Amino acid sequence: MLDTPARILVDSTVVEGPQPVRKAVAKPDLLTVEDAKALTVPEMTTLFKDHVNPGQLHFMKLLGFHKVKIESAEGMYYTDQNGRKILDFFGGFGSLAFGHNHPRLLEARKRFQDENRHEIAIAFMSQYAAAFAKNLATISPGDLDMVFLGSSGSEVMEAAVKLAERAAGPKRPKVVYAENSFHGKTKGVLNITDGALYRADFAVSGNTVRVPFGNIQAIENAFRADPQIGAIVLETIQGGGGIIRAPDGFWKELRALCDRYGVVWVADEVQCGYGRSGRFFAFEHENVVPDITALAKSLGGGKAAVGAMIARREIYMKAYGTPKTAMIHAMATFGGMGEACVTAIEALNIMYDDGLIDNAAEQGAYLLARLDALREKYPKIIKEVRGQGLMVGLEFQDFSQTMPLVLRPVIGMLDDKLKGSLSGFIGALLLRDYDTLVAFTEYNRNVIRLEPPLICERAHVDQFVDALDDLLGRGIIRIVKDFVGSQMG
Ligand SMILES: Cc1ncc(COP(=O)(O)O)c(C=O)c1O
Repeated sequence: MLDTPARILVDSTVVEGPQPVRKAVAKPDLLTVEDAKALTVPEMTTLFKDHVNPGQLHFMKLLGFHKVKIESAEGMYYTDQNGRKILDFFGGFGSLAFGHNHPRLLEARKRFQDENRHEIAIAFMSQYAAAFAKNLATISPGDLDMVFLGSSGSEVMEAAVKLAERAAGPKRPKVVYAENSFHGKTKGVLNITDGALYRADFAVSGNTVRVPFGNIQAIENAFRADPQIGAIVLETIQGGGGIIRAPDGFWKELRALCDRYGVVWVADEVQCGYGRSGRFFAFEHENVVPDITALAKSLGGGKAAVGAMIARREIYMKAYGTPKTAMIHAMATFGGMGEACVTAIEALNIMYDDGLIDNAAEQGAYLLARLDALREKYPKIIKEVRGQGLMVGLEFQDFSQTMPLVLRPVIGMLDDKLKGSLSGFIGALLLRDYDTLVAFTEYNRNVIRLEPPLICERAHVDQFVDALDDLLGRGIIRIVKDFVGSQMG
């Protein structure tokens, strides 16, 4: 930066004219935004390896995902550095309900910026946070009226568990959670996240009771056996566990059980909520209302990091209802940021204006029907198709023991995580040969998770299923060989 013309003494010499401003702290060699945009794949790889997560890069390489640099994204598609359009059936684990860069969201954010609106919502009341909370209360059934805003699913689930604990009272500190649950990776919710990978080597609290998911009898037994149980936390549809639904009628029975034993029910809707299942909340399929729920992922329209815990007023007031208790878990620094809230307000309006919840139900049913037909066509490859709305799991047969003998030596060379896991091979080949992106599940390596944007149309479902059909038509041996070939390339 150049100063106004000045006379500056350098090495006892008087220098005339504009001189650089002398700063006590010199600017380090920083990359600019333009530098970041221009990074090549090899440069990104080096930076990722040196500064982000070398182990994760290993998995990206295994799947061939490390060759892709996304240059732009619109609607249902990414566009990579070679102009290739990639169909997004991964949807950021359900974070892209509106697809990429929905024009109404871009416009709302631009207006907000052009008007120099304020962001931080702590000192003064924020009109944006207030309006967004009101919208969530309007959408939520029953007296789910009180809203805590955060910026991630883990953060609002932490808030939910803390609220449940305070509402239950100090004599009932124990929390029931389910096998195969995923509620986030932060320290508090790690207590109720079931994955050994995530929990191992961390000191988790002993105040928990684990039950099989969807088993009402096991829950009743637990409630009856332990009066210290004050809360139960369950995903309404398990995501990380492999897209698992509870049996029909389970949630009604759970509500009745919680009422009978005075247990606070927390419904984690971070992944299955927000219209994805074909209702705004997945628990609405059974017309029941939990005591506390939580949303994140698509809540910020795929453009902002927004999470919300929503609680029944009575529960909330019990825990934080007085001036003395009000600040115990009040707004976080980045909870209720202005632009994030207006994005979220616009997103909710789009969801209803464009009928996206109905669309999730309709396209989801179509996707399930087409995948069921594929399961009948390839019974040796597809084990099960399941899900609700646009939250669909495709489970492949487990080949770890039955892989054809000719392939065993080849598979033996592959990474431990992928051995016998068709989902890895199929995900890699869908991207390489069919320009299609799908997701995997944390706990079950044989399941592919399909969570496309809720703007998904029938033609996108057809594009995806036709690609999968063509790939499965190659047969197991060729699929494995093609995958191994892609490793050599
Ligand atoms: C059901 C559920 N709860 C909580 C979380 C944690 O959300 P986040 O990754 O935003 O912290 C996730 C994330 O996948 C989730 O699926």
